[in-house]
Amino acid sequence: MQNNRRPLVAGNWKMNGSLELAAELQQTFQQASLQNIDVLVCPPFPYLQGFDVSVSALGGQNLSQYNSGAHTGEVSAQMLKSVGCSYVLVGHSERRSDNAESNELVASKVKVALEQGLTPVLCVGEAEDIRDSGEFFDFIAAQLDAVLNLVGIAEFAHIVVAYEPVWAIGTGKTASPEQAQEVHAFIRGYLANLDSEVASKLRILYGGSVKAVNAKELFSQPDVDGGLIGGASLDPQEFLNICLAAKG
Ligand code: PGA
Repeated sequence: MQNNRRPLVAGNWKMNGSLELAAELQQTFQQASLQNIDVLVCPPFPYLQGFDVSVSALGGQNLSQYNSGAHTGEVSAQMLKSVGCSYVLVGHSERRSDNAESNELVASKVKVALEQGLTPVLCVGEAEDIRDSGEFFDFIAAQLDAVLNLVGIAEFAHIVVAYEPVWAIGTGKTASPEQAQEVHAFIRGYLANLDSEVASKLRILYGGSVKAVNAKELFSQPDVDGGLIGGASLDPQEFLNICLAAKG
């Protein structure tokens, strides 16, 4: 983590949780002292409403590429905003695999989020076979290129990137701090070739089996600016401990 970038820790509940958990989490965080760090919670859509956004920022886990209309089952950027969201996860690997979201579709969702004033958390990361083949830098570059081609580098001033190696998500197999740093530095360097100032201010989160016990070491890497936390964000005290690890 570098001093000029404010750490961000985001909890992604995926399709888990309850209204009770939402209340419990807010109670836990209300009592905590978390200055100089941004905390974001991304519960399933039905639990968004009623979240106190003075306790933590709120984000959707997905959004439609459309603004309104005949798209059954979809949720628009405006709808997310209307219930207090300021962020939205875009292109999570589970969306990419379960819902066949292509790099181009992900890019169009990033564009809509930006247009509607939401901060997209753009998720990128390689599966195990791509890691093993050694071609993960090219793979991640292609994921970034689709967004760059559609919105341009300047918009990355309003985007957060999350590097989540698919082989580390929910597996208990965390990337080593060195592996995370290597990819984070690659992402920042890749964008710095286009605009060094935007790249130096960009927050890049690490996600994949982050827990309170490994958070501090991951977050202390120079290009790791916080985390995107799945399973461990379902335990309010554990999630708080991860947030405290990002505080420095
Ligand atoms: P995990 O999930 O922390 O359970 O590995 C991370 C994510 O998918 O965002």
